[in-house]
Amino acid sequence: MTFPLYCAEPARRDTARHLAERFGLEPVRQRPEAGYWLELGPERLELVTTGRHGAVYAEFVEGAARHRREQGGGRGQPVAKAIGLKGARVLPRVVDATAGLGGDSFVLASLGCTVILLERSPVAAALLYDALERARVHPDTVEIAARMTLVHDDAIRWLAETATRPAAERPEVVFVDPMFPDTDKKSAAAKKGMQAFQQVIGDDLDSAALLACALEAATVRVVVKRPLRGPAIEGVRPSAVLEGKSTRFDLYVIRALRPAGAADAP
Ligand SMILES: C[S@@+](CC[C@H](N)C(=O)[O-])C[C@H]1O[C@@H](n2cnc3c(N)ncnc32)[C@H](O)[C@@H]1O
Repeated sequence: MTFPLYCAEPARRDTARHLAERFGLEPVRQRPEAGYWLELGPERLELVTTGRHGAVYAEFVEGAARHRREQGGGRGQPVAKAIGLKGARVLPRVVDATAGLGGDSFVLASLGCTVILLERSPVAAALLYDALERARVHPDTVEIAARMTLVHDDAIRWLAETATRPAAERPEVVFVDPMFPDTDKKSAAAKKGMQAFQQVIGDDLDSAALLACALEAATVRVVVKRPLRGPAIEGVRPSAVLEGKSTRFDLYVIRALRPAGAADAP
């Protein structure tokens, strides 16, 4: 079933057509009267619905993203430690297998990592694409956005294919943050007005298969982000756990990143 895209700004009809073709959305001439739809306005693309929820969009320039850029915890923050940045000499190539609205990818790209953002939902991928386009033309974010590449694909397929390549062509780190069918993340996200996103995307019921492919593709480690008290992904046990205030990172270490000051291999 395709997802509706309504263009509310006549001057942006070409962009709407491009988005519809690229992400398999269904252009509609009238604003829908019920359900969820994507709406392209003069500023940005939003996921909207009638009534209950506020609009949802991805954002790398203003708001929380600006705050993170200006006040973020650098390499000392939990996500940076989790992917192994503390003390690392070479910044890893990261694949964010569950990009969503790109919040985690943006933090990692802000810290200097190159990030491939995999997203299978056409709705989330379109929202990400729009936010990246805006970030690419803003002076504060142009360099960060240049390190972020969006791929609209299923990560299980993409990682399985990548795992067959030589190590030099594979990512050092794969980051995974699925939508679990539990309540922790739902209540946390609900607070942020993200119910619409969850309703549209649904739960990710194939996380075990995703973790297995991530472990085959990564050369250094796989990091799974979880609510503090949420269950680990079934299957392989994490080799280490890093706890934050409300979030936990389960680490599946394959090998260590080269530490700062280490000599290059001969
Ligand atoms: C909880 S959200 C991720 C939030 C993200 N970390 C952020 O900072 O915005 C999970 C996302 O992963 C996507 N996803 C789940 N499994 C996937 C897969 N196998 N391939 C690609 N995307 C996947 C879902 O569509 C959803 O958008």
